Amino acid sequence: MSATIKLEKKHFPVLLDEIIKIISPQYSGTFLDCTFGQGGYSEKILENSKNKVIAFDRDSDAIKLSERFKKHFKGRFEFNHKRFSEIKNTNSNNIKAIIFDLGYSTNQIFDEKKGLSFNSKGTLNMKMGLNRFSAHEAINKLDKEDLTKIFKYFGDEKDAKKISQAIFRKRNNYMLKTEDLVEIINKEKKNYNFKINKSTKVFQSLRIFVNQEISELIFGLINAYKLLPINGYIVVVTFHSLEDRIVKFFFKNYSEDKKVSRYLPSSKNENKIFEMLSKKAIVPSPEELKKNPSSRSAKLRYVKKIKEGANFDELLLKFKNFIEIENIGEKLC
Ligand SMILES: C[S@@+](CC[C@H](N)C(=O)[O-])C[C@H]1O[C@@H](n2cnc3c(N)ncnc32)[C@H](O)[C@@H]1O
Repeated sequence: MSATIKLEKKHFPVLLDEIIKIISPQYSGTFLDCTFGQGGYSEKILENSKNKVIAFDRDSDAIKLSERFKKHFKGRFEFNHKRFSEIKNTNSNNIKAIIFDLGYSTNQIFDEKKGLSFNSKGTLNMKMGLNRFSAHEAINKLDKEDLTKIFKYFGDEKDAKKISQAIFRKRNNYMLKTEDLVEIINKEKKNYNFKINKSTKVFQSLRIFVNQEISELIFGLINAYKLLPINGYIVVVTFHSLEDRIVKFFFKNYSEDKKVSRYLPSSKNENKIFEMLSKKAIVPSPEELKKNPSSRSAKLRYVKKIKEGANFDELLLKFKNFIEIENIGEKLC
């Protein structure tokens, strides 16, 4: 049987060669693909007949492809239709690397039903799968102050307050649709940057909120650490600055000694649990950018686990504000 499976993919697996290079010395063993998507990473890892992949994806659209993988890579591929914050119960003691490729596949972005794009029409959705509420409920039920926080902190939207006030005015006995939100943004927002669509930031913030992307990432990373044996790798590809800030803090803060002052030697970091093998993020090559321009904001970071028993209070404290904003979602459940 051939090592590859014929995929009808539109999605181009980002930084694939770089990831394989990082995890190759770890061959062979079990790898966790936390974001199966169109199966690009899993397929490449499974080319080595000694490897096993345990995959996760929250989108039910991934199930069909996972069935093909199970048949093709008999006994070497397992799929979990779960959120990756739930990986901790994975049953395997030989994990070599845990990989996260955050964000969305091209297929999801162009899927009208998912309503991720500001070009969609009708009811706002943005649910990636296994969600508790939609963007429609967020926009139509949350109060002005909550919406302002979501737009400001998850979208870095300068006109957050003006936009949420306008949503509130228009909403009076009327359920806003995607096109209404776009119209409001176009009316309320100054154009600070002609290169990006005026709706980009608000849509990004709603998507983060609906899918609880910050909590997913933070608890996904903590659970990856807990699950991974010593010498295993955590590899993450991020697509926006907030994700990258979290990953960078997680890797850096738990891999370096602390410098309190430049006049004093660094103090020993008791929570030094990772070895950071590359300080700078790896970005797509000019060749990859040419083939796949949408990879332009991708950043790859990775670490090796060197110690058990970390406590993550500092991480949770640092991003407490973001987790609290995601918890506003409880009002919709
Ligand atoms: C960028 S795509 C991954 C593409 C994949 N690496 C490939 O080569 O085809 C991201 C995938 O992760 C999934 N995803 C995003 N957040 C998730 C989460 N918290 N838990 C599980 N799956 C998630 C999405 O549904 C999507 O299918």
